[in-house]
Amino acid sequence: MRRSKISIIGGGFVGSTCAHWLLSRGLGDIVLLDIEEDLVRGRALDLFQSSALTTSSLGITGTSDYTDIQNSDLVVVTAGRARQPGMSRDELRNINAEIVAQICEQIKQQAPEAYVIVVTNPLDVMSYVAWKTLDFPSHRVMGMAGVLDGARFKAFVAEALQVSVQDVQAFVLGGHGDTMVLLPRLCHVGGIPLTELLSEEKIASLVERTKKGGAEIVSLLKTGSAYYAPALSVVEMAESILKDKKRILPCSTLLNGEYETTGLFMGVLCCLGSKGVEKVMEFSMTTNEKKLFQNSVSAVRSQIEQLVL
Ligand code: 2OP
Repeated sequence: MRRSKISIIGGGFVGSTCAHWLLSRGLGDIVLLDIEEDLVRGRALDLFQSSALTTSSLGITGTSDYTDIQNSDLVVVTAGRARQPGMSRDELRNINAEIVAQICEQIKQQAPEAYVIVVTNPLDVMSYVAWKTLDFPSHRVMGMAGVLDGARFKAFVAEALQVSVQDVQAFVLGGHGDTMVLLPRLCHVGGIPLTELLSEEKIASLVERTKKGGAEIVSLLKTGSAYYAPALSVVEMAESILKDKKRILPCSTLLNGEYETTGLFMGVLCCLGSKGVEKVMEFSMTTNEKKLFQNSVSAVRSQIEQLVL
């Protein structure tokens, strides 16, 4: 059986941490690409040497040369400017749109059959830019955000209740930004609705903390943004595609009438398998949830309208 080939564009903290998790889960050979060639070769060499201490016999290459990503099964786009303290994800929009479009031109040439997971912010806008540039069927292009936002909420819920995070089920929809939509009604802890375990005020504070989850880390790190949880969130998605696990994960995907939305990438629950986004899982939202989702749709739509490419 042929090994999967996974390329990661951007060898910064998110990209190299993705490589680390992908290798440790044995998901495939990795190409880590960055314009800083020595840096990325150094990181790849370090990861390669670490394989001597594991049972993995997978390869990892650090490069600046796009021909090295030829025939990748999956490409993860992490490159772009990271947020600085006080900077919103949206301010990054035009700078990163240009970077993502240039990268996607290369992916289109070198890996035309690949599945593409976008991580660069503002996420839903960059996923749209990637899809437009790649001109791939939309089930092969998706953005990572909901898995990360959901992980943050689950971690905070588990901490508040002093229970294992393994038994917390939750998901986050909408755009990856201040308008993201948390659904406490559908969060369960060991099967019990969260609304029966915590007060409305406590839940509201956890929802708020989750919405600002990325910014809280940016303000502590001062020179960059989060990477451990974002990287592992990508790997959850990658694993479901490469192993055809058909997990239900929230991803930013092109909506085609689902949730009364068309032509935008938005975070919704998707079934991820060997065909990428195999289906969008729809459910009935309450009037208030619908309102929050549409508010998020408007925020992403206005970002797309302001896009300068
Ligand atoms: C975050 O929320 C990087 O957008 C990412 O931390």
